[in-house]
Amino acid sequence: MNFWGKVIIITGASSGIGKELALSLSKEKCKLVLIARRIEFINELKEEIEKNGSELFTIKCDVTDKIQVKYSVDSVLNKFNQIDGAILNSGVSVKQSFANFDSYVAEQTFAVNYFGIVNYLNELLPVFKKQRSGFIAGVSSLADARGFPVSGIYCSSKAAVTTLLESLKAEYKPFNVKIINIHPGFVKTPMTDKNDFTMPFLMDVKKACKIIMKGFRKDKNIIKFPWQMTLLTGIIKRIPDSWFQYIADKRVSIKKL
Ligand SMILES: NC(=O)c1ccc[n+]([C@@H]2O[C@H](COP(=O)([O-])OP(=O)(O)OC[C@H]3O[C@@H](n4cnc5c(N)ncnc54)[C@H](OP(=O)(O)O)[C@@H]3O)[C@@H](O)[C@H]2O)c1
Repeated sequence: MNFWGKVIIITGASSGIGKELALSLSKEKCKLVLIARRIEFINELKEEIEKNGSELFTIKCDVTDKIQVKYSVDSVLNKFNQIDGAILNSGVSVKQSFANFDSYVAEQTFAVNYFGIVNYLNELLPVFKKQRSGFIAGVSSLADARGFPVSGIYCSSKAAVTTLLESLKAEYKPFNVKIINIHPGFVKTPMTDKNDFTMPFLMDVKKACKIIMKGFRKDKNIIKFPWQMTLLTGIIKRIPDSWFQYIADKRVSIKKL
């Protein structure tokens, strides 16, 4: 994939993976549209992005709000007349056990992680279908593999994203629209900084974005990393349900909930 001169949207660009991807892509001399609620954080990237030879357009948008999402896509089309790709990366992760269950957390998590992508698909798919070109990269997670204890809401939101994009991939191929599914393992960002548990194979965000960029360049449909976590979750996904349940039961104690 070549980004030179292309109009690329990134949601959740105010921190972590989205911010680092924006900085990496800015070296490709493209037109970057950075989206998040904390617009002041993305405006801070202006100098570096322009120094790297790219143009920056920032939009304040809550991806859970359909009207704001429509406004953001209309604004990009008004400014550039085209959209070449979108990296739908906005996400939240709230640790919640079912011992203290609150459905509000599930609603909010799905509103950002799943419907944040659905809201953009609603606006972008007609544009890409008409253009007969474009790419959509959705950020899922390796946590989509199973219903890991104390992460049921996050895991299910990411499994929903993975399934959605997988299904979309075949349907939009005839329109020359590429769908990419990105599955990170643990990456050191503000999202994981608040975790109080051991995160195996935790990866530096710059390294994670190098892998994502390499995946884009190699035209991959699925980008998974780090390899150790990809292997581990691949095995966990394939073991019999009873084995998974046995391991999950061992990891949960009343004290931890
Ligand atoms: N870090 C990891 O280990 C890891 C692993 C697997 C998958 N992921 C996924 O990677 C993506 C990026 O995560 P990260 O680790 O970079 O986390 P992060 O540093 O917390 O960044 C999350 C981004 O999402 C944006 N966001 C959250 N709610 C939003 C909303 N309602 N509307 C618009 N934007 C919103 C935030 O921007 P504002 O708050 O400014 O709106 C922020 O830019 C997420 O989808 C996450 O689930 C991360």
